[in-house]
Amino acid sequence: MSGKTISRIGVMTGGGDCPGLNAVIRAVTKTAVFQYGLEVWGIEDGFLGLIRNRIHPLSTDDVSNILTRGGTILGTSNKADPARYAVGKDADGKPVFEDVTNRVIEHIESCKLDVLVCIGGDGTMTGAAGLTKRGVRCVGVPKTIDNDLLHTEVTFGFQTAVNTATEALDKIHTTASSHHRVMLVEMMGRNAGWLTLHSAVASGADVILIPEIPYQLEVICEHCLYRSRHGKAFTIIAVSEGARPEGGKQVIDRVIQDSPDPVRLGGVSEVLSRQIAEATGLECRATILGHVQRGGTPVPADRVLATMFGHKALELLLAGKFNEMVVMQQGQITSVPIESVAGQQRLVPLDHPLIAAARGTGATFGDKPAKH
Ligand code: F6P
Repeated sequence: MSGKTISRIGVMTGGGDCPGLNAVIRAVTKTAVFQYGLEVWGIEDGFLGLIRNRIHPLSTDDVSNILTRGGTILGTSNKADPARYAVGKDADGKPVFEDVTNRVIEHIESCKLDVLVCIGGDGTMTGAAGLTKRGVRCVGVPKTIDNDLLHTEVTFGFQTAVNTATEALDKIHTTASSHHRVMLVEMMGRNAGWLTLHSAVASGADVILIPEIPYQLEVICEHCLYRSRHGKAFTIIAVSEGARPEGGKQVIDRVIQDSPDPVRLGGVSEVLSRQIAEATGLECRATILGHVQRGGTPVPADRVLATMFGHKALELLLAGKFNEMVVMQQGQITSVPIESVAGQQRLVPLDHPLIAAARGTGATFGDKPAKH
């Protein structure tokens, strides 16, 4: 496929949905048709559409009126890696995996797709990196509410999720102060604390628990008791689903055997709520925000970012820069090799200025930071 000129582009969205995916699909399709006179075909449900040959032409009418819509008009899947696709179960009920890359390549060729625009997170980039090794030309566009993709300062979807989580924290404030309770709010983000950190600082949470900084239960309890003894009869705790105690483990909600990234975190806020209530005698409640954080109309900043990322993807493939993923670095949109992103996570660095600002304004991360 590598020597061919481009006339038909395939576009797909993979992994968990997030606000702004439709804005990228729209930008890719409109730029391809209006600016470069190319055809775009939509691939349904991420790599699953390539495996099952569910691929169809996409017109500019199909992508009209979707800029503000959450989710993805193409559908998505976070289970279908062509190199390790679950084709059934063995006698013990465990999934049996097969490499179906050849089938995927047949479908790409039969639909005459010259290049794929793969919009997704690290799982999708891992799948795309596998295809590039087999000669498929791909350009990656990074998405995720977790903001944890390597080499890019920001992914679209993140700002909308921060908005949603901040609104939730703001609303929880009312009940916390009226009932003099400790209120825990659990956020998504897998092993990265970006979403929790940003929304916690935006809403002035009192305790911020992120995976990068293991917590000590005693420190959290002391903070809650100190507040209640000093006139603040409530505490708001923003906690990442991936937070864990010092020397302890993350709380796993479920394991999805046929998913390339099988572990789903969740439930730490409920565990902590019981522990804090028992240790302090304070009344505690936990709220898990869950998939609400992935929904809704993208905020303007995400629509703008998604449109610029989609447009840049077209520029890259027209310039013959294949197997690259669009990124934002120092405020500039540029690109890096897809394989340098695959299977990696960008965590919050411990010297991030937002951590210092949160500590400076009185929040605790549940640790005992060194005194300066
Ligand atoms: O990566 C996005 C994300 O929403 C994570 O924050 C979360 O851990 C995970 O996906 C949930 O996955 P699922 O939709 O499969 O439950």
